[in-house]
Amino acid sequence: MQSKKFYESLGKSKLKEPRERLDPKNAFLIKRYSLSGKKILDLGCGKGDLSYEFAKRKNEVVAIDGSESMLDYAKTRNSHPNIQYVLLDIEELKLKQKFDLILAINSLVHIKTLGPIFVKIHKLLKKDLKFILCFPHPLQDIEDINNYSKEKIIRTETKYGVVKQYYRPIEFYINNLIQSNFRLTKAYEFPARKPDFFIVESQ
Ligand SMILES: C[S@@+](CC[C@H](N)C(=O)[O-])C[C@H]1O[C@@H](n2cnc3c(N)ncnc32)[C@H](O)[C@@H]1O
Repeated sequence: MQSKKFYESLGKSKLKEPRERLDPKNAFLIKRYSLSGKKILDLGCGKGDLSYEFAKRKNEVVAIDGSESMLDYAKTRNSHPNIQYVLLDIEELKLKQKFDLILAINSLVHIKTLGPIFVKIHKLLKKDLKFILCFPHPLQDIEDINNYSKEKIIRTETKYGVVKQYYRPIEFYINNLIQSNFRLTKAYEFPARKPDFFIVESQ
Protein backbone atom coordinates (compact mmCIF):
# COMPACT_ATOMS: atom_id res chain seq x y z
CA MET A 1 0.00 0.00 0.00
CA GLN A 2 1.32 3.45 -0.91
CA SER A 3 1.50 6.28 1.65
CA LYS A 4 1.24 3.68 4.45
CA LYS A 5 3.67 5.53 6.74
CA PHE A 6 1.60 8.71 6.35
CA TYR A 7 -1.64 6.94 7.33
CA GLU A 8 0.01 5.08 10.26
CA SER A 9 1.14 8.42 11.66
CA LEU A 10 -2.18 10.16 10.88
CA GLY A 11 -4.25 7.45 12.61
CA LYS A 12 -2.08 7.53 15.77
CA SER A 13 -2.23 11.26 16.04
CA LYS A 14 -6.00 11.54 15.37
CA LEU A 15 -6.60 9.15 18.29
CA LYS A 16 -4.94 11.67 20.62
CA GLU A 17 -7.20 14.47 19.39
CA PRO A 18 -10.89 15.06 20.11
CA ARG A 19 -13.32 13.50 17.64
CA GLU A 20 -13.96 15.68 14.58
CA ARG A 21 -17.38 16.45 13.09
CA LEU A 22 -18.47 14.22 10.20
CA ASP A 23 -16.65 15.36 7.08
CA PRO A 24 -19.09 17.30 4.78
CA LYS A 25 -18.73 14.88 1.85
CA ASN A 26 -19.47 11.94 4.16
CA ALA A 27 -22.46 13.83 5.60
CA PHE A 28 -23.68 14.40 2.02
CA LEU A 29 -23.25 10.69 1.17
CA ILE A 30 -25.09 9.44 4.24
CA LYS A 31 -27.98 11.81 3.49
CA ARG A 32 -28.07 10.86 -0.19
CA TYR A 33 -27.84 7.10 0.43
CA SER A 34 -30.15 6.76 3.42
CA LEU A 35 -30.44 3.00 3.37
CA SER A 36 -31.20 0.41 6.00
CA GLY A 37 -31.03 -3.37 6.08
CA LYS A 38 -28.35 -3.46 3.38
CA LYS A 39 -24.93 -5.07 3.10
CA ILE A 40 -22.28 -2.41 2.49
CA LEU A 41 -18.58 -2.62 1.67
CA ASP A 42 -16.45 0.44 2.53
CA LEU A 43 -13.09 0.30 0.72
CA GLY A 44 -10.44 2.43 2.45
CA CYS A 45 -12.74 3.22 5.40
CA GLY A 46 -10.09 5.31 7.19
CA LYS A 47 -11.34 6.44 10.62
CA GLY A 48 -14.58 4.55 10.02
CA ASP A 49 -16.83 7.62 10.35
CA LEU A 50 -18.96 6.79 7.31
CA SER A 51 -19.08 3.06 8.08
CA TYR A 52 -20.34 3.92 11.53
CA GLU A 53 -23.12 6.15 10.17
CA PHE A 54 -24.31 3.34 7.88
CA ALA A 55 -24.06 0.77 10.71
CA LYS A 56 -26.15 3.00 13.00
CA ARG A 57 -28.85 2.96 10.31
CA LYS A 58 -29.09 -0.83 10.63
CA ASN A 59 -26.90 -1.74 7.67
CA GLU A 60 -24.30 -4.50 7.91
CA VAL A 61 -20.90 -3.05 6.98
CA VAL A 62 -17.59 -4.66 6.01
CA ALA A 63 -15.01 -1.86 6.28
CA ILE A 64 -11.52 -2.46 4.97
CA ASP A 65 -8.37 -0.40 5.24
CA GLY A 66 -4.68 -1.09 4.73
CA SER A 67 -3.49 0.99 7.70
CA GLU A 68 -3.41 -0.56 11.16
CA SER A 69 -3.53 2.74 12.97
CA MET A 70 -6.46 4.07 10.92
CA LEU A 71 -8.27 0.84 11.85
CA ASP A 72 -7.25 1.24 15.52
CA TYR A 73 -8.96 4.63 15.43
CA ALA A 74 -12.02 3.12 13.72
CA LYS A 75 -12.26 0.25 16.22
CA THR A 76 -11.78 2.60 19.20
CA ARG A 77 -14.08 5.46 18.20
CA ASN A 78 -16.41 3.94 15.61
CA SER A 79 -16.99 0.42 16.84
CA HIS A 80 -20.49 -0.98 16.25
CA PRO A 81 -21.91 -4.53 16.29
CA ASN A 82 -22.96 -4.08 12.62
CA ILE A 83 -19.40 -3.32 11.43
CA GLN A 84 -16.62 -5.74 10.71
CA TYR A 85 -13.30 -3.88 10.34
CA VAL A 86 -10.75 -5.75 8.22
CA LEU A 87 -7.05 -4.98 7.65
CA LEU A 88 -6.60 -5.53 3.92
CA ASP A 89 -4.95 -3.91 0.94
CA ILE A 90 -7.60 -2.96 -1.63
CA GLU A 91 -5.27 -4.27 -4.33
CA GLU A 92 -5.50 -7.74 -2.73
CA LEU A 93 -9.29 -7.60 -2.47
CA LYS A 94 -10.75 -11.10 -2.15
CA LEU A 95 -14.17 -11.53 -0.55
CA LYS A 96 -16.77 -14.22 -0.98
CA GLN A 97 -19.90 -12.26 -0.06
CA LYS A 98 -21.78 -9.89 -2.39
CA PHE A 99 -22.92 -6.38 -1.47
CA ASP A 100 -25.86 -4.00 -2.02
CA LEU A 101 -23.61 -0.93 -1.97
CA ILE A 102 -19.85 -0.52 -2.36
CA LEU A 103 -18.09 2.70 -1.41
CA ALA A 104 -14.60 3.88 -2.35
CA ILE A 105 -14.48 7.34 -0.84
CA ASN A 106 -11.27 9.21 -1.51
CA SER A 107 -9.24 6.02 -1.16
CA LEU A 108 -8.43 4.89 -4.73
CA VAL A 109 -6.49 8.12 -5.25
CA HIS A 110 -3.50 6.27 -3.73
CA ILE A 111 -3.67 3.37 -6.19
CA LYS A 112 -1.94 3.46 -9.56
CA THR A 113 -3.89 0.94 -11.64
CA LEU A 114 -7.64 0.96 -11.15
CA GLY A 115 -9.01 -1.24 -13.98
CA PRO A 116 -8.47 -4.62 -12.24
CA ILE A 117 -9.90 -3.23 -8.97
CA PHE A 118 -13.04 -1.94 -10.71
CA VAL A 119 -13.53 -5.38 -12.32
CA LYS A 120 -13.33 -7.05 -8.87
CA ILE A 121 -15.71 -4.45 -7.38
CA HIS A 122 -18.22 -5.06 -10.17
CA LYS A 123 -18.18 -8.79 -9.38
CA LEU A 124 -18.73 -8.12 -5.66
CA LEU A 125 -21.92 -6.14 -6.31
CA LYS A 126 -25.32 -7.78 -6.36
CA LYS A 127 -27.02 -7.37 -9.75
CA ASP A 128 -27.88 -3.74 -10.64
CA LEU A 129 -26.70 -2.41 -7.28
CA LYS A 130 -24.45 0.56 -6.74
CA PHE A 131 -20.80 1.48 -6.53
CA ILE A 132 -20.06 4.99 -5.24
CA LEU A 133 -16.65 6.30 -6.19
CA CYS A 134 -15.42 9.62 -4.80
CA PHE A 135 -12.13 11.18 -5.84
CA PRO A 136 -10.56 14.64 -5.56
CA HIS A 137 -11.94 16.92 -8.26
CA PRO A 138 -9.04 17.51 -10.68
CA LEU A 139 -9.76 21.26 -10.62
CA GLN A 140 -9.33 21.31 -6.84
CA ASP A 141 -5.78 22.69 -6.81
CA ILE A 142 -4.88 22.88 -10.46
CA GLU A 143 -1.80 25.00 -11.04
CA ASP A 144 -1.73 24.97 -14.83
CA ILE A 145 -5.03 24.47 -16.66
CA ASN A 146 -3.11 23.54 -19.82
CA ASN A 147 -1.99 20.38 -18.01
CA TYR A 148 -5.54 19.45 -16.92
CA SER A 149 -5.61 16.15 -18.76
CA LYS A 150 -2.10 15.07 -17.84
CA GLU A 151 -1.94 12.35 -15.19
CA LYS A 152 0.69 12.94 -12.53
CA ILE A 153 1.74 12.02 -9.02
CA ILE A 154 1.30 14.70 -6.37
CA ARG A 155 3.58 14.35 -3.34
CA THR A 156 2.56 16.52 -0.39
CA GLU A 157 4.70 17.10 2.71
CA THR A 158 2.54 17.14 5.83
CA LYS A 159 3.18 16.96 9.56
CA TYR A 160 2.34 13.24 9.30
CA GLY A 161 4.91 12.63 6.55
CA VAL A 162 4.71 12.56 2.77
CA VAL A 163 1.48 11.56 1.09
CA LYS A 164 1.38 10.54 -2.55
CA GLN A 165 -1.76 10.86 -4.64
CA TYR A 166 -2.47 10.19 -8.30
CA TYR A 167 -3.88 13.24 -10.05
CA ARG A 168 -6.05 12.25 -13.00
CA PRO A 169 -8.72 13.91 -15.12
CA ILE A 170 -12.36 12.89 -14.75
CA GLU A 171 -12.31 10.94 -18.04
CA PHE A 172 -9.69 8.58 -16.55
CA TYR A 173 -12.13 7.38 -13.86
CA ILE A 174 -15.18 7.35 -16.13
CA ASN A 175 -13.48 5.39 -18.89
CA ASN A 176 -12.01 2.89 -16.43
CA LEU A 177 -15.48 2.34 -14.94
CA ILE A 178 -17.06 1.83 -18.37
CA GLN A 179 -14.30 -0.58 -19.43
CA SER A 180 -14.95 -2.56 -16.23
CA ASN A 181 -18.63 -3.08 -17.19
CA PHE A 182 -20.11 -0.34 -15.01
CA ARG A 183 -23.05 1.74 -16.18
CA LEU A 184 -22.91 5.30 -14.85
CA THR A 185 -26.13 6.43 -13.19
CA LYS A 186 -25.36 9.75 -11.46
CA ALA A 187 -22.54 12.21 -10.83
CA TYR A 188 -22.10 14.98 -8.28
CA GLU A 189 -19.52 17.74 -8.15
CA PHE A 190 -19.27 18.23 -4.42
CA PRO A 191 -19.75 20.77 -3.01
CA ALA A 192 -21.57 22.47 -5.86
CA ARG A 193 -20.06 25.92 -5.25
CA LYS A 194 -16.42 24.95 -5.92
CA PRO A 195 -14.52 21.90 -7.19
CA ASP A 196 -13.47 19.69 -4.28
CA PHE A 197 -14.70 16.14 -4.84
CA PHE A 198 -16.22 14.32 -7.78
CA ILE A 199 -18.66 11.56 -6.92
CA VAL A 200 -19.79 8.98 -9.48
CA GLU A 201 -22.55 6.49 -8.90
CA SER A 202 -22.55 3.45 -11.19
CA GLN A 203 -23.97 -0.05 -11.32
C1 LIG B 1 -8.19 9.93 2.47
S1 LIG B 1 -8.52 8.54 3.49
C2 LIG B 1 -10.26 8.39 3.24
C3 LIG B 1 -10.96 7.70 4.36
C4 LIG B 1 -12.48 7.62 4.26
N1 LIG B 1 -12.90 6.81 3.14
C5 LIG B 1 -13.10 8.99 4.22
O1 LIG B 1 -13.43 9.48 3.14
O2 LIG B 1 -13.26 9.61 5.28
C6 LIG B 1 -7.89 7.20 2.51
C7 LIG B 1 -7.89 5.87 3.24
O3 LIG B 1 -7.60 4.84 2.28
C8 LIG B 1 -6.70 3.92 2.87
N2 LIG B 1 -5.94 3.28 1.78
C9 LIG B 1 -5.13 3.89 0.86
N3 LIG B 1 -4.62 2.97 0.01
C10 LIG B 1 -5.12 1.77 0.41
C11 LIG B 1 -4.95 0.44 -0.06
N4 LIG B 1 -4.17 0.15 -1.11
N5 LIG B 1 -5.60 -0.56 0.59
C12 LIG B 1 -6.39 -0.29 1.67
N6 LIG B 1 -6.59 0.94 2.16
C13 LIG B 1 -5.96 1.96 1.54
C14 LIG B 1 -5.83 4.74 3.79
O4 LIG B 1 -5.24 3.96 4.80
C15 LIG B 1 -6.84 5.75 4.33
O5 LIG B 1 -7.43 5.31 5.52
